[in-house]
Amino acid sequence: MSSKSFTPLIDPFERRVRDLRISVTDRCNFRCTYCMPEAGLKWLDRKDILSFEEIARLARIFVENFDFDGIRLTGGEPTVRADLPVLIERLSGLVVPSTNQRVDLAMTTNGSALRLIAKDLKQAGLRRLNISIDSLDAQIFESMTRRNHLDKVLDGIDAALEAGFEPVKINIVMIRGVNDHEIVDFAKFGRTKGVQPRFIEFMPLDADGAWNMNKVVPADEIVDRINEVFPLEAVVHGPEPAQRFVYKDGAGEIGVIPSVTKPFCGDCDRVRLTAEGKFMTCLFAIDDFDLRNILRSGGTDQEIMEQIRAAVGTKWAGHNIGNVNFIRPSRSMSQIGG
Ligand code: 5AD
Ligand code: SF4
Repeated sequence: MSSKSFTPLIDPFERRVRDLRISVTDRCNFRCTYCMPEAGLKWLDRKDILSFEEIARLARIFVENFDFDGIRLTGGEPTVRADLPVLIERLSGLVVPSTNQRVDLAMTTNGSALRLIAKDLKQAGLRRLNISIDSLDAQIFESMTRRNHLDKVLDGIDAALEAGFEPVKINIVMIRGVNDHEIVDFAKFGRTKGVQPRFIEFMPLDADGAWNMNKVVPADEIVDRINEVFPLEAVVHGPEPAQRFVYKDGAGEIGVIPSVTKPFCGDCDRVRLTAEGKFMTCLFAIDDFDLRNILRSGGTDQEIMEQIRAAVGTKWAGHNIGNVNFIRPSRSMSQIGG
């Protein structure tokens, strides 16, 4: 059957919601200071985490019934989940009703396992990869991730390129006084390697609670510093949060994610599913909606759709980082899913 009927999901602010982030595990082999405490967190029990069948069922509902066109797998660190390519194979076959194209399937990873599995991920149908790498200096890398794995991650980036991922993006969380002197180094690295750096403003989602406004490096400053060395030109952008710039000499592009200084909430088209099957309409949402309970009590697709619609009906206009009325979420990034 080709033409399926779907209903777009529209939130109270008239935004069309069509991008799903799925956290496949809350576990991680790194302990990035901006994300997790040194001792790690209390991991979820395996039985509490959605199975591949459960994830695939929910993903199918989002794509086929609500016409979602993008899915991104996150964690924790998604590659610590066993048999990940099996899940990717199931998700990559989903077809978006309005376009008749396969869903755009992406993943964010810390890169440490890519030498081992990049090829399998590609073969299973993963289209795009974002690899986190916060410093090109081994000591700073270790101070930020609490792991001495810079070489492994660099090799993981090579493995991703060799496997044919195109583009490969690298995520850099910028923290004032920690890695902001490396902005131009990252630009050079991107230009020579053929990867796209995406500089991300530090958000108050760290488990240690060390965030403050002085640690945020504004996206505009990042762009200015690169532009002085390698002239840039802005790319008109769609709903994606990244502001993109191409080098005038044609040597690639960069992106900045101004989550704090210029929140892109007005264009937000995403929602999230945590590893334990909680549905969240914002990274900073206080409420979550339990889909696992419906799945495990024999709920119908219709019931799941109703819960999703009800949840999207509570999606708010935006977060308030930097405002007095901002409420810090109780979960850190690794528990919600980057
Ligand atoms: N601020 C900004 N980005 C964060 N990430 C995790 N914690 C934070 C934070 N506090 C993002 C990083 C990382 C991805 C997994 O999640 O971009 O690459
Ligand atoms: Fe792990 Fe990613 Fe959090 Fe770092 S940011 S601790 S790699 S989940």
